Amino acid sequence: MLTCTRTQWRNAPLAYRCLWNHAAASSTYLDTTQALNPAVHDTPDHLRASQFDLLDKALRVDQAGEVAANWIYRGQMSVLGRDSSSKSIIQSMWEQEKKHLAVMNKLQIQHRIRPTALWEVAKIAGFALGACTALLGREAAMACTEAVETVIGEHYDDQLKEMEFLPGSHPSISMLDNLVREFRDDELEHLDIAIENHSQRAPGHALLSAAVASGCEAAIAICKVI
Ligand SMILES: [Fe+2]
Ligand SMILES: [Fe+2]
Repeated sequence: MLTCTRTQWRNAPLAYRCLWNHAAASSTYLDTTQALNPAVHDTPDHLRASQFDLLDKALRVDQAGEVAANWIYRGQMSVLGRDSSSKSIIQSMWEQEKKHLAVMNKLQIQHRIRPTALWEVAKIAGFALGACTALLGREAAMACTEAVETVIGEHYDDQLKEMEFLPGSHPSISMLDNLVREFRDDELEHLDIAIENHSQRAPGHALLSAAVASGCEAAIAICKVI
């Protein structure tokens, strides 16, 4: 399995990014012939309470985040979808979020984690955020994406450090580590796409970014426990 650090990924030529994506851990989850592979089927026995708590919070918040991300892009698409160039940019990122959520849904079942009680709230809040920023214009929508993906990319990066406390000898945990790396790199790719599409030209960019980032950080804290 090919993986890379955030810095390596961001500095890599496009061809190498494609190679990493091709070797993605998520493809094992979405390959039905792998359904009984212990890495995507089993959960570690005899986790200490602190380890289970870590896994429990991590997967609940990650799943909730991917729900919200899907609805942010749905909201953006509802406003900007008639513009063909905006549509193709948003659609490409949304397709990756669909993949992230499909994998997170499998992980939640695999590790017997309770989903967030705020599932419907995440959908509504995500759609509202995506649609409202898109109503301010394409650059504001990209500023929203930039802020969200910055927070989520850093969240996944922090999670990789926490996961060192989980039993890495179990195949499901090494798989989870690879997945989080893959998703972090996807989110950082979305961040780059937003900047390339002039997110920083949005009116009130600094204020909008700060507001969206604060909301995302609060949502992460809440969904760990609720
Ligand atoms: Fe995602
Ligand atoms: Fe993303």
